[in-house]
Amino acid sequence: MPGTEALGVDYADLDQVEASAKDILHPAVYDFFAGGAGDESALAANLASWRTIRLRPRVLRPAAHPDTSVTVLGSTLAAPIVIAPMGYQRLAHPDGERATAVAAARVGAAMTLSTYATTRLEDVRAAAPDGVQWFQTYILQDRGLTADLLQRAAASGFTAVLLTVDATVPGDRRRDRRHGYALPHADGIDLPNLGGVGLDAAYSSRLEADLGPDVIGWVREVSGLPVAVKGVLHPDDARVCVDAGAAGVVVSNHGGRQLDAAMASADALADVVNAVGDRADVLVDGGVRRGADVVRALALGARAVLVGRPVLWALAHDGEEGVTAMLTALIDGIGECLRMCGAPSATALGADVLARVR
Ligand SMILES: Cc1cc2nc3c(=O)[nH]c(=O)nc-3n(C[C@H](O)[C@H](O)[C@H](O)COP(=O)(O)O)c2cc1C
Repeated sequence: MPGTEALGVDYADLDQVEASAKDILHPAVYDFFAGGAGDESALAANLASWRTIRLRPRVLRPAAHPDTSVTVLGSTLAAPIVIAPMGYQRLAHPDGERATAVAAARVGAAMTLSTYATTRLEDVRAAAPDGVQWFQTYILQDRGLTADLLQRAAASGFTAVLLTVDATVPGDRRRDRRHGYALPHADGIDLPNLGGVGLDAAYSSRLEADLGPDVIGWVREVSGLPVAVKGVLHPDDARVCVDAGAAGVVVSNHGGRQLDAAMASADALADVVNAVGDRADVLVDGGVRRGADVVRALALGARAVLVGRPVLWALAHDGEEGVTAMLTALIDGIGECLRMCGAPSATALGADVLARVR
C-alpha cells in the first residue's frame, strides 16, 4: 500500500491533492467536479460547518487500538467510509469507476456506483468482487429502465441502493454554464448503464420531477435490497422515509450542487438522528475531509459518512493507487482521532465527546 507521500502529494492534505488534480484535468471537467450551484454558498457551508463542531476528548480510557469497523445498511465495513456516488469517473482517470471500486475494497470501505457511471455496473462488480458496492439510483422518466438497472445491480452483487431524491430539478451550475455545458468527449466514454447515452446527459433532465414516498417501496420491491434515501435535510422527511420502508437516510445537500441556499449537512445531522432513532441507519455527506470530520459525524449519531470530491482528485492524480492512499490517510486519521478521544471503537462514540450538542 502506498505511503501518503510516496505518490508526490500528501494524501492527508486534500487541498493539496485537489490543487494538483486541477493541473491535470481539463478545465471543464475540473469545474464540473468541483463546482456547486449558484454562488456556491452551500458548498462552502458544508466545508466550514464540520470545523465549528469542537470535540471534548475523554482521557484515562484505554483506546490504543480503536476498532473502526461498522455495520451499515447490512454491510460490514472496516471503516465507516462510503464512496459517494459520482458519475463520469472515467473523465478523471481512464480506469474510472473500476479503480475506485478496487481501492474501496482494498481498505474495506464501501463504494456507491452512480447511475451516471461511465463503466458498466457488471464490470465494476467484476473488478472488485470481494468489495462492498452499493448502487445509486435516480427515478428516470423511463421507469422500465430504472427497474432494469436495479435488477441488474441486485443480480450482480450490489448489496444496497441509495435512492437520490434531491435532484429532481437540475441545480444552477454556473461553472458548467461558462463552459457551454460541454464536457470533453473523450473517445469511447459514455454512460453505458443508460444505454450508452452521451455525456451531455448530465445537463438534460431525464428524471421524474414529481416523486412521493411511495417510490421508496417501489425501489425496495424491484431491487429486493435495503434502500437508503439520499438528500434528506429535514427530520420530518427522514421520519416519512423510514415509515415508507427506508433502511437508512443520507443527510446531504448533494455536495452543494442543488439548492445553493441549503443548510450545511453537518448542521442537519443531529435533528435527523433524533427523528430516526434506531429505526434506520443515518449517513451523512458533504465536506467530509479529515478523520476528525468522520468522528464528528459519528459522535452526532451517523453510522457512516460518504466522501465525494476527494475521491475524484485522488483518482485523477494516481488512479487506484491514489484513491487507496487517500482512503488510507482518512482511515488513519479516524484511528488517531478515536485514540485521542479515548474511544475504543467507532461505535462507542457518543455526544459526550461533543463540546456543544447541535
Ligand atoms: C462530480 C460529481 C458527480 C456527482 N454525481 C452524483 C450522482 O450521480 N448521484 C448522486 O446521488 N450524487 C452525486 N453527486 C453528489 C455526491 O454523491 C455527494 O453527495 C457529494 O459530492 C458529497 O459532498 P463532497 O463532494 O463535499 O464530499 C455528485 C457529486 C459530484 C462532485
